[in-house]
Amino acid sequence: MTPFTVVGVAGSLRHDSYNRALLRAAAELAPDDVTFTIFDLDGVPLYDEDHDEYRGGDHMPDAVVALREAISAADAVVLACPEYNWGPSGVLKNAIDWASRPPAESPLRHKPVALIGCSGGPAGTGRAQLQTRQHLQSLKAYTLPEPDVQIGFAKDRFDDDLALVDDDVAQLLRDQLDALRRWAAALRNHG
Ligand code: FNR
Repeated sequence: MTPFTVVGVAGSLRHDSYNRALLRAAAELAPDDVTFTIFDLDGVPLYDEDHDEYRGGDHMPDAVVALREAISAADAVVLACPEYNWGPSGVLKNAIDWASRPPAESPLRHKPVALIGCSGGPAGTGRAQLQTRQHLQSLKAYTLPEPDVQIGFAKDRFDDDLALVDDDVAQLLRDQLDALRRWAAALRNHG
């Protein structure tokens, strides 16, 4: 198969974040011909139109330029979506906002995107992912329809070092990455 590059972005800054851990597991489970890197949102400031060059602002923050370039360079994106108050974290929405301008030049436009998420309770971030799908639709990203990766009861899925210990979740991550790759190839062939 053609080599495939993926950039993963987790919407949590927490050191022991389950969503980062899930994203790390997805990257580690990727086959050898997939380059799966993780972009850390730690350095990305809050969106400010005064610093958005595409909106007449001055110099974009370096971390934002790097985020946009990482998305542009990848064949596909995996977003790990924590659920806060039935929606996505501000950290993730902020990153999407920075990557969204101007709509015609957004690196997320026509980009294949898969969503994953993990929560402490049973919900598995389904509500956050649904809202994130809406945000991505406004940018005309190509969000993968299935399989969903919505993992509840996080404590049961990872060991004390936050390594994934659930074989079913591991298989789901493999299946989703395979589906994302086929989705990206189909969209490329579609033109
Ligand atoms: C949460 N949490 C949460 N969980 C959930 O299933 N539905 C929800 O609506 C919320 N709301 C919520 C709001 C706020 C402000 C916090 C801090 C937490 C729990 C949350 O999903 C849990 O802490 C995750 O572990 C956060 O993700 P990371 O940091 O582990 O990746």
